[in-house]
Amino acid sequence: MEYINSFYGFKELVVGTDTKIPLKNKKYITAINFDNAATTPPFKHVLDELVKFSPWYSSIHRGAGYKSQLSSNLYDNARNIIAKFVGSDIEYNSIIFVKNTTEALNKLSNKLLPLYKDDIILSSFMEHHSNDLPWRNKYTMDYISIDKYGRLSMHDLKNKLEKYDGKVKLVTVTGASNVTGYINPIHEIAELVHSYGAQILVDGAQLVPHAPIDMKPLNDPGHIDYLTFSGHKMYAPFGSGVLIGPKNVFKESPPDYSGGGTVRIVTPDTVTWLDPPEREEAGTPNVIGVLTITWAIEVLNKIGMNAVDNYEKMLTRHALDSLQNIPFIELYNNSADTENRVSIIPFNIKGLHHEISANALSNEFGIAVRNGCFCAQPYVQKLLNISPEDTKNHIEDPTLPLPGVVRLSFGIYNTIEEINILVKALYQISSNRKFYYEKYKSK
Ligand code: ALA
Repeated sequence: MEYINSFYGFKELVVGTDTKIPLKNKKYITAINFDNAATTPPFKHVLDELVKFSPWYSSIHRGAGYKSQLSSNLYDNARNIIAKFVGSDIEYNSIIFVKNTTEALNKLSNKLLPLYKDDIILSSFMEHHSNDLPWRNKYTMDYISIDKYGRLSMHDLKNKLEKYDGKVKLVTVTGASNVTGYINPIHEIAELVHSYGAQILVDGAQLVPHAPIDMKPLNDPGHIDYLTFSGHKMYAPFGSGVLIGPKNVFKESPPDYSGGGTVRIVTPDTVTWLDPPEREEAGTPNVIGVLTITWAIEVLNKIGMNAVDNYEKMLTRHALDSLQNIPFIELYNNSADTENRVSIIPFNIKGLHHEISANALSNEFGIAVRNGCFCAQPYVQKLLNISPEDTKNHIEDPTLPLPGVVRLSFGIYNTIEEINILVKALYQISSNRKFYYEKYKSK
């Protein structure tokens, strides 16, 4: 892992930072990626380990061969590595491998149905659709409101727990927002939620790769009951994600996918399921995907998650300070609290549709960002003060340009120099809004 000590700091950790891409004027430029909240490039270490492991890859849990045993051991030990990384008690919790956070949340929403069908689940207005839609139509749901800056309202959470008088069984919130980057006070939420007899799920997709997380032991009132996250957002984009939760919950019901790998004994008329986690991992698992997460964790541990957090906060502060001086920039996560956030900045250039700004950044400057609502439409509608009538108009008329914002999201390999290039580009766009509007408006 010599990359970590290299002259270039963290830039050398990932592949692709020197890729040349064509601009609209056909000139080539080094690509800058500020879209890490969507997905991250792989760490070089992950690719090196993947190449080293490939000759040893074999079927797990089913083969007697040496390579099968080796692959099985590595796969099974991945649960220990991941549990340690997030502070999960491996005796009490199951570490279940899935495709990604979305699959983890869907799976859990199915698993909890026999337990919580007649109870209330609280989500919040700052969630990604993946932590909202899987719960809808299965449970009675309500949403914790947000304050004027878009932060989760602890006051409203307490009111709702009080109002529902013990009927709330699960509070499911994001660890950090994929739109504003705000970090929720998950242990404070956990303590409150537990005091009302409910459990807490943290969608860790945006938190786990960027800041330290500790699920804490069961006897700590601030412990986290369920955690989900994805490999592809933590420099291991090979199709694996993680769902962590109490073993007993997964023992309550048959798996949502059945088949090979989920059973102990099958007769023509009976099935005896394996215990979790195997019961929940039907078919041949994505061994390589899972191992890549452990190799990514090796890199993150070597840097240290506090150092990752501090470095990315430094990038975010520098970007926020610079963006504030650019005319016509509107920021959407401008609360006084600059500490409790991950490296995400949502903005618009006044007078320019978000798509025009994003296209201009990409086509003219080689800077990749994401724009729109980031699969979190209710949150963005609130941040932009979009009225229910406006939303209705958009539902009825699909030709209307959709509201949204432009999002910068930094990873550990981004640099101050790249942010300075972005700042110059934004100055240029905001000073020539009419020009860029005419060039990129929909034909
Ligand atoms: N949740 C991912 C994003 O925010 C897809 O881009």
